[in-house]
Amino acid sequence: MSAQSLRFTLNGQAISLEVRPIERLATVLRREAGLTGTKIGCDAGDCGACTVLLDGAQVCACMVPVGQVAGRDVVTVEGLARDGGLSDLQQAFHRHGAAQCGICTPGMLMAATDLLRRIPRPTEAEAADALAGVLCRCTGYRKIVDAVLDVAGTAASPMPPAGCAVGARVPKTDGIAKLTGAEKFADDVAPADALWLRLVRSPHAHARFTLGAFDDLHARHPGLVRVLSAADVPGLNGFGIYPDVKDQPVLADGYVRYRGDPAVALVGDQATVTAIRDEEVPIDWRVIEPVTGIDAATAPGAVQLHADKPGNVLIEGLVRRGDVAAALAASDVVAEGEFETGSVEHAYIEPEAGYARRVGDRIEVGACTQAPYMDREEVANVLGIERHQVRIVPSACGGGFGGKLDVSLQPILAIAAWLLDRPVRAVYTRPESMAATTKRHPARMTGRLGCTRDGRLTALAFHADFDTGAYASWGPTVANRVPVHATGPYRVPAVEARGRAIYTNAPPSGAFRGFGVPQGALVHEGLIDELAERLDIDPLEFRLINAIRAGDVTATGQTLETSCGLVACLEALKPRWRASRAAAEAYNAGATSLRRGVGIGCMWYGIGNTSLSNPSTMRVGLKRDGTLTLYSGAVDIGQGANTIMTQICADALGVEMARFTLIMGDTDLTADAGKSSASRQTFVSGKAAELAGRDLRGQILRLANTGDAAAIEIGDGRVVVREGDAGRAIDLAELAEDANGDVLLGEGYFDPPTTTLDAEGQGVPYATYGFAAQIAEVEVDVELGTVKPRRIVAAHDVGRAINPVQVEGQIHGGVAQGIGFALMEEYIPGVSENLHDYLIPTFGDVPEIECILIEDAEPLGPYGAKGIGEPALVPTAPAILGAIHHATGVRIRRLPATPDRVRAAILANQAGREA
Ligand code: FES
Ligand code: FES
Repeated sequence: MSAQSLRFTLNGQAISLEVRPIERLATVLRREAGLTGTKIGCDAGDCGACTVLLDGAQVCACMVPVGQVAGRDVVTVEGLARDGGLSDLQQAFHRHGAAQCGICTPGMLMAATDLLRRIPRPTEAEAADALAGVLCRCTGYRKIVDAVLDVAGTAASPMPPAGCAVGARVPKTDGIAKLTGAEKFADDVAPADALWLRLVRSPHAHARFTLGAFDDLHARHPGLVRVLSAADVPGLNGFGIYPDVKDQPVLADGYVRYRGDPAVALVGDQATVTAIRDEEVPIDWRVIEPVTGIDAATAPGAVQLHADKPGNVLIEGLVRRGDVAAALAASDVVAEGEFETGSVEHAYIEPEAGYARRVGDRIEVGACTQAPYMDREEVANVLGIERHQVRIVPSACGGGFGGKLDVSLQPILAIAAWLLDRPVRAVYTRPESMAATTKRHPARMTGRLGCTRDGRLTALAFHADFDTGAYASWGPTVANRVPVHATGPYRVPAVEARGRAIYTNAPPSGAFRGFGVPQGALVHEGLIDELAERLDIDPLEFRLINAIRAGDVTATGQTLETSCGLVACLEALKPRWRASRAAAEAYNAGATSLRRGVGIGCMWYGIGNTSLSNPSTMRVGLKRDGTLTLYSGAVDIGQGANTIMTQICADALGVEMARFTLIMGDTDLTADAGKSSASRQTFVSGKAAELAGRDLRGQILRLANTGDAAAIEIGDGRVVVREGDAGRAIDLAELAEDANGDVLLGEGYFDPPTTTLDAEGQGVPYATYGFAAQIAEVEVDVELGTVKPRRIVAAHDVGRAINPVQVEGQIHGGVAQGIGFALMEEYIPGVSENLHDYLIPTFGDVPEIECILIEDAEPLGPYGAKGIGEPALVPTAPAILGAIHHATGVRIRRLPATPDRVRAAILANQAGREA
């Protein structure tokens, strides 16, 4: 169909475009009208990120042929702001912290606008119903609902005064851009003249292949500029997290190990590379029986997937302390069991996207990433160039959760742009994103946990096998981190905990919010519940008896000196626990098929890398005009690092936040702050930001020749330092500028003190730990097996809540992902590669979440802060499983606890009783 002239009203303006009527409205808005505030998360009507108003009603713009809008009225997020300011709804989102990564925010705002037009004062149920078509993976929806119900509330507080930023409920410093559609995500930033790249991926989990000649393909498709294969990789055709395990090829070299392994890359104009069907590309596949699952991979004679890994064992981790066999034999009660979890997809709403361009003898890569310095190293390796020749420019990141720690399209884009000397861009489709990128490790775990008859834990024997899939990715981290955490946050004198990462022909398993700890927590929490029941001790009291406290020694031999807030979390929950348990039991006394239950889960989580150097460097510069620039390599993936770093640095420097601008993650402009993972940025980079602020403050005070207590006032062109009644002015124009235009530059560096673990897993793996306890209230339909969470109460020791709004937001989002992990999410290659077959929690799945913040200060952390990102998810699933047991008497040990599994367990339990 040819292009036609199409007239309609867009954000109040008459507009005329030459487009094919069949094109999707979302695509046209972005490409032709330049309104990139409308996001594309799936292009299939599943995620709602593209929601706009058509004649005032919400529609998915990816499902509307643009021809249908002729003569009609279209409003996008860019049309919401009024008179140069935010609309009331946008202000409410800002005030409540309803945007985290922000990729879903335009769609949410448009759906909410539709609702408020129809129902100016909606109920929570009406709000949830109206917004149910828009998925959010970050927020757990709670603050979005709060914002919609509080649209007429008072405006957000202004930025706090100097010295008062830490602990304040400050709106996101980058929040307004997320609310107006101005934020630039990875698909919004490519050069206009960029070629497009598309990977042709293996349809087979295990195969060998040969490539034919591409002459015919070029002849049939003149817009095809180049077909890249493994032979074109200039440097090392391998990447991976660990310096000594670069086992994942950029392009497979005749052998693919999972469904989605890329074989060739097509580069050309967009229409051409998307039009070429995979079947047209001359690839001769020879399928091999795949190695599926841990048993097949470790069976005698199993096909070895990597030449240097006999038995398909990537790595083993061990923590051993005391005589476990003797301690278990001497225990009064021993609980044991096998637990299993499936593959879980990150399902961030922003698919991977990016561009690369060659600049002389350097390469620039713009992409969504959690780890720009790691990306830089990978790109340098595959191009065979030096690291300083690579510039990584992170875009805003529309969700990561660990899935954007590994490189995805960065290496192949860099290779294409390097070889062609032209900008090249790519964006993964939703199915491609789900097929090709990492997953949460499927796990099979066994545990034996003993205690005395008065409920004191004595010993734990634990073994976990993790299906790490085709390539190593973060398998070594998972296999080592989980044994350290295997006891949970409890005193256990004798421990033997092992973890193995096993290669299979599944998609690579990588990092996903917790590095295996959420899986491992099912074992310690499940077995503790069983011990408590057998001893007739209340589950919360049992945990209190055993809760690790300051001064206790962990399974790795580490003495926890301070900041050990589990007891405080449990004490805070105790009144709610008792009341909720009693209420559920009273309800069940008269219940029929609906039964209620209340469960509890606890966790601890080591903040930062396991037993590895884990440094961060942050800088803050002062320009002649009085602008402060925080050069932060701590990438904000929605968790709020941009705001947190600014709050900390501002207070350390002693000036108001409003003076700050921030440059994030650009490897040419910011120092290495490490990756945004392992819940480390607030603790590690936050400390570095504090030290940078203090460094700059020291320089200013020295220039003014004043004492430490002096107040700093920064104005245009000068700094005034006041001490008592005296004031001393520094004329910034007299100071020399550096290359970035800064006249003064403060720097902070922090590397948390850890040690390596010895052969028995003894040492100091982390400098500090987060602690938490959560209560889950659920309702189970015993006839259907469905489980509905009714309420979550989450008590978290975060050391210090630098920004309580953001801490709550992290807890909400973690809980929501924990609900998905517990009840609904399981990724199956080739089956659930889209957001209508792979279900993540929607508005209706996430109940009220009460957050209780415990602040047991960590002396090493910035203003006492630790981390919250991953801890928020870990206790949720164990708490839900405990609640299911309380409601029904059955113990579920295979996640997700889907209705069929719950119903089968209930039937088996009934049959057991009857037998
Ligand atoms: S992009 Fe339109 S619904 Fe997902
Ligand atoms: S804020 Fe909703 S997906 Fe990130």
